[in-house]
Amino acid sequence: MVTLTINGISVTVPKGTTILTAAESIGIDIPTLCYDKDLSIVGASRMCVVEVEGARNLVAACSTPVAEGMKVETESERVVKARKTIHFVMQKFMRAVIGTNSVDHCART
Ligand code: FES
Repeated sequence: MVTLTINGISVTVPKGTTILTAAESIGIDIPTLCYDKDLSIVGASRMCVVEVEGARNLVAACSTPVAEGMKVETESERVVKARKTIHFVMQKFMRAVIGTNSVDHCART
């Protein structure tokens, strides 16, 4: 078992659990786009990024396994800014390629 902190809440999960699943287990919702629990993990969209203390870059919650003592923030200013940028880019893509202004029906936000 691995114990970590997400948004100041301590959680203990089995080794190999992703940050996304650990967060869900304590009721913290992290938006996703390319993740589907029934498919292999791609980790490409970066919609699920979170901040891990000590990590230089934001990490994808759907593809990053938890680690003992890890401290995760899912709603820091840096995370929110990154998600807004990704959402903006996806909206531009959807408008250009598919002809809709909304990515909301694709992303779980
Ligand atoms: S949901 Fe796409 S990288 Fe995590």
